[in-house]
Amino acid sequence: MKQQLIKCALLAFAALAAVATAAARADGMDGKALFLKNCAACHQPTGKGIPGAFPALAGNKFVQGKSTDVATVLLKGRGGMPDFSESLSDQDISTILSFVRSSWGNQAAPLSEAEVMALRDVLQVEPFSNGQMSNKH
Ligand code: HEC
Repeated sequence: MKQQLIKCALLAFAALAAVATAAARADGMDGKALFLKNCAACHQPTGKGIPGAFPALAGNKFVQGKSTDVATVLLKGRGGMPDFSESLSDQDISTILSFVRSSWGNQAAPLSEAEVMALRDVLQVEPFSNGQMSNKH
């Protein structure tokens, strides 16, 4: 019985530690900060966009749909939407999209860094290199 309790406490602690690690970033930029820096100029800090120019991400069905479809827009760009594949890391993209999918009333599951990394492979978009070793000519 006591052993069980200890196991239980350890498991709870491990889970908390995992959450804390996922939330903390070396540069202190969370999803909101990354969104404000990279996306809000067009989609607005409110996520409501500008009608006729920049689509609203708030209350957007596509944004809350299949996570890899949403990430594809960031990795490949689309129309007036820039391609962020060389300026944002897989962790940045997963952090921003997890924020966007769960803010302003949106209620969709987060996206992991590993999913973004795998998606680059599928889309044949170069792995993130921090702009240092791009072999694009
Ligand atoms: C320079 C302006 C600009 C910036 C910066 C920008 N976007 Fe966009 N975004 C657009 C435009 C324009 C579209 C519509 C593209 C189209 O017509 O296909 C769009 C479309 C999208 C879509 C698809 C919406 C839909 O309903 O299909 C998503 C998701 C999205 N942007 C997310 C982001 C995120 C996240 C960022 C920040 C990393 C960002 N955008 C930064 C202009 C921008």
